[in-house]
Amino acid sequence: MPAIVVVGAQWGDEGKGKATDLLGSKVDYVVKFNGGNNAGHTVVIGDETYALHLIPSGILTPGCTPVIGNGVVVDLEVLFQEIDTLEARGIDTSHLLVSANAHIIPSYNRVMDRVTERFLGKRQIGTTGRGIGPTYADKMSRVGIRIQDLFDHSILRQKIEGALMQKNHLLVKVYNRRAISVDEVTDELEAYAERIRPMVVDCSLLLNNALDRGQTVLFEAGQATMLDVDHGTYPFVTSSSACAGGAATGSGVGPNRIDKVIAVAKAYITRVGAGPFTTELLDEDGEKLRAIGHEYGTTTGRPRRCGWFDAPVARYARRVNGVTDFVMTKLDVLTGWDKIPVCVAYDVDGVRHDELPYSQSDIHHAKPIYEYLPGWTEDITGVREFSDLPANARAYVEAIEDMCGAPVSAVGVGPARDATVVRHPLQF
Ligand code: GDP
Ligand code: IMO
Ligand code: MG
Repeated sequence: MPAIVVVGAQWGDEGKGKATDLLGSKVDYVVKFNGGNNAGHTVVIGDETYALHLIPSGILTPGCTPVIGNGVVVDLEVLFQEIDTLEARGIDTSHLLVSANAHIIPSYNRVMDRVTERFLGKRQIGTTGRGIGPTYADKMSRVGIRIQDLFDHSILRQKIEGALMQKNHLLVKVYNRRAISVDEVTDELEAYAERIRPMVVDCSLLLNNALDRGQTVLFEAGQATMLDVDHGTYPFVTSSSACAGGAATGSGVGPNRIDKVIAVAKAYITRVGAGPFTTELLDEDGEKLRAIGHEYGTTTGRPRRCGWFDAPVARYARRVNGVTDFVMTKLDVLTGWDKIPVCVAYDVDGVRHDELPYSQSDIHHAKPIYEYLPGWTEDITGVREFSDLPANARAYVEAIEDMCGAPVSAVGVGPARDATVVRHPLQF
């Protein structure tokens, strides 16, 4: 009954699809359990490149059922656009399932996201503007709209009315915007009701039954540990539980059913949006990493901030997720550096911290303490066996493994699905 969770170990865009691919055809269900279309996953299969936002990457694996869990927030317009785009490219999406309890992102929350960001001025989070934060806020305030509400006209209308009562005051009196009409939003959401009806399931029942039958369920996190609303660099985070614990709450599967937690980390590190970033490079090296690693956001196209590998962040990710295996991606991007700095600890006002400080002020003031590992020049993109990597590339992986506290079971050496060196099989 294997249940496996894949999470991001850094600030997102680690290439989480690499871990999904390694598990391959053995996976019966791929479940997205948090976030929404703030996520962006680029999957390269042969000559084809797919940019997915809301639909789990399992949609591209034949025989695998993709599920959008209750912990996800769903923009219906984006969902059907993504379905239509995939169908137009010959991908069968008829097996996609959506939890009846997932919350909907109504258009007014896209508006709220943008106006509140503007209002924050220089304290902006740099959100993706997709309405994610306001929709999770509505969920917690108990004025959210769920997928199942689409099938009861009077409930839907009442809930929209309840949500808009307060928001319209804010929009008109604080943000100087026009009020949004209840009818307009009800019509907008109901337009999708019949199309989504056949996809709607009891996600918890479906997945527990699958595990009881001995099938394999893969939980695929959006975002990452350092963007998690509890464990990330709050308030510069997203609004959902992106760590492994979120897989249980975001799907209705008990935590004791999870067998393996795979964390994906780049061989360096990136971040999109505002917030502290200890190893950030604002120099030529940062630009070089961005250029070679194509570090531009899949969702917003923003240039990603780039920096050297941060071991305190990786160790922290191991701890808060209970990581059993790391998958290191993008080792190929580091080819050609003479020496590669790796941050082994933080210096906060003259005091060494081996573990990530709990205080946000300390994280903001931290300076990286680097160790310099010898680089390599050989092209590694064609390598498929660990022993065929240059000695210094192997030593880099092994040094990071020692610092992280869990095995680096696979190493990505190129964007393609199969461009991976497997050290320890991830399958059961
Ligand atoms: P996600 O948000 O974690 O799913 O990651 P993204 O798709 O946003 O960003 C990861 C990017 O890195 C994608 O464009 C992948 O094709 C690419 N990628 C993944 N693994 C590797 C790798 O090992 N080497 C290189 N060069 N690119 C990779
Ligand atoms: P994947 O799944 C990188 C960042 C945004 C912003 C903050 C809050 O592709 O790794 P939000 O719109 O979620 O309220 O924005 O979180 N962010 C991401 N950064 N990868 C992502 O997803 C992200 N999803 C959100 O840039 O700083
Ligand atoms: Mg991404």
